[in-house]
Amino acid sequence: MVRTITTALGAWFQKSQRSLPWRGVGDPYAIWLSEVMLQQTRVATVIPYWNRFIQQFPDPAALAEAPLDEVLEMWAGLGYYSRGRNLHAAAKQIVELHHGSFPRDPQQIRQLPGIGEYTTAAICSIAFDEPLAVIDGNVERVLCRYLCLDGDHRKGAARTLLREAAEAALDRSHPGDHNQAMMDLGRTTCTPRSPDCRACPLASGCGAYASGDPTRWPLPKVRRANEEQWWATAVVVTRQEVLLWPNCGELLNGHMGTPMVRLDGPDGDAKFELLRLFKTLAIDAPELIGHADRFQHSITHRKLQVSPLVYRWNRSIPEGVKLLPFDAAHRVPALHRKAIDATKELLLETTS
Ligand code: ADE
Repeated sequence: MVRTITTALGAWFQKSQRSLPWRGVGDPYAIWLSEVMLQQTRVATVIPYWNRFIQQFPDPAALAEAPLDEVLEMWAGLGYYSRGRNLHAAAKQIVELHHGSFPRDPQQIRQLPGIGEYTTAAICSIAFDEPLAVIDGNVERVLCRYLCLDGDHRKGAARTLLREAAEAALDRSHPGDHNQAMMDLGRTTCTPRSPDCRACPLASGCGAYASGDPTRWPLPKVRRANEEQWWATAVVVTRQEVLLWPNCGELLNGHMGTPMVRLDGPDGDAKFELLRLFKTLAIDAPELIGHADRFQHSITHRKLQVSPLVYRWNRSIPEGVKLLPFDAAHRVPALHRKAIDATKELLLETTS
């Protein structure tokens, strides 16, 4: 039954596909980059990042040669930074094991850091016309509705059925277009809460549409509750710049940023904990200027309440520390950018 998807979907894609900078390029490296960026980020956000990345790192060798810092700085704002770290590690592996050219063999692609079943199928089908069906959240929704698939499609028999359906539906002569059409359809038309069934090329064969209650499928994800945590961060400033330390520990490991320390709770002593942190960074405590307003920031399953404390630095710059001009806060992850932004008012008051 799912075979009927092929023709209608192909015609729809030809007519309504969005022109995206990585479509039609045929370069597996460029496609890989787009797929990694698209995994947890919206298309409109990804476009300028992809353009900058490709310009700065046009091939795996250029990416492998760049320091990780530089890669993560370019990733700043996209979130889920392990994607950037894996990308860099994979580029190094491509240089070491494949002489810098992106492998063609799905098994070899699957071995690269950060590349799972989904990304392998996406790259191989789009770049090499390999008949591998992509299953992401959008495709799951389209197929669960089309088949009225009850039960949890993430495990057991429903999962197997879904995979079989995705493979049976695949247009083997145009697997790349087919996969992208399924993902586009899920994103633009078969949306989670208000599917536009009248615009859907698959409506005539769709069980959920026929039922009159299309959003009954798929079974919703059980959401993990967010854990609330309290943190303090030290925004250490010179006249024009903020000092950035390499962060280690559980938050944004590997990034340059304002040093962060976890507090016991909402009444945790930020000043005291930051003094301890300065000791571990082997620096004498700088002069405290004041407390900026607490702000909120969410990171996967965690809601952080962050208290920024502002300090003045008037000694020489320690080794390993970077200086960030105030107007370049967009170059650091959103967590640190918010901390820097939160201190601006306080700094204006103290300098005026
Ligand atoms: N989402 C992730 N990758 C995609 C692609 N190649 N086309 C459409 N949507 C996507």
